[in-house]
Amino acid sequence: MSTGNVAGVRSTAARSSVALHAAMAVTGLIMILFLLAHMYGNLKVFEGQQGFDGYAAYLREIAQPLLPHAGALWILRVILLASVLLHIFSAFTLWHRSRSATGGKGGWRYETTKNRRGVQRSYASFTMRWGGVVIGLFVIYHLLHLSADVIAPGGASASPYQRMVNGFQIWWVVLSYVIALIALGFHLRHGIWSAFASLGANKSVGTRRFLNQLATVVMLIILVGFLVPPLAIFAGWVS
Ligand code: HEM
Repeated sequence: MSTGNVAGVRSTAARSSVALHAAMAVTGLIMILFLLAHMYGNLKVFEGQQGFDGYAAYLREIAQPLLPHAGALWILRVILLASVLLHIFSAFTLWHRSRSATGGKGGWRYETTKNRRGVQRSYASFTMRWGGVVIGLFVIYHLLHLSADVIAPGGASASPYQRMVNGFQIWWVVLSYVIALIALGFHLRHGIWSAFASLGANKSVGTRRFLNQLATVVMLIILVGFLVPPLAIFAGWVS
């Protein structure tokens, strides 16, 4: 192989790693938009059973009669599932590449020869992979619990509001959500910063500071917004 070809293969590989990072960033940002909307919807629990179940029913009626019943919801589900799969595929491929390139040891993360102290070396950045696994397991458990009503601690119900109220009166259900949401918070804290950096926004010390602040604020909004309903139900403020 000529030197030109080697350089060509290397640059294609580098380009596709860049594409994988961009895919992770875009799919991550799509999921963050979903989380913000979902968190807002969950807060309707404070409007009582009619308000919450009415909102759940409205989600299934969007764009009717243009779309069939729950048509818009199914479009959202397909976009979300595609985002999750592409996010996981990109993460796994990048992890595998880094392992292969370093003889199975894994590379120095967030550190370069220029910058030995590294950037973004934090608990959040070092737990992205295991944090992702925890969130994946949580989502399966959560869908079986509050969406499909298959796991029904406290009692099954056709009403999404009642499912929440039944489940979140039980301490271990609340604890399992709190643990998963904290793992999600760490993942988002680094993920938001990383997504914008992958898309080229990390250009100066000033933008790096801004991205760090943005990541913290968005993470806190999502974390607190999701924590409030289960804790309020457990405290007896919603019944
Ligand atoms: C305390 C936190 C949460 C609560 C109380 C909650 C509540 C709910 C409820 C009640 C539903 C069923 C809605 C319906 O049937 O109309 C649901 C569905 C769902 N939740 Fe959550 N959720 C929480 C956190 C999360 C998180 C952190 C994620 C993602 C990481 C998530 C992802 C989903 C998904 C994908 C659905 C299915 C949407 C659909 O296809 O209909 N949820 N959630």
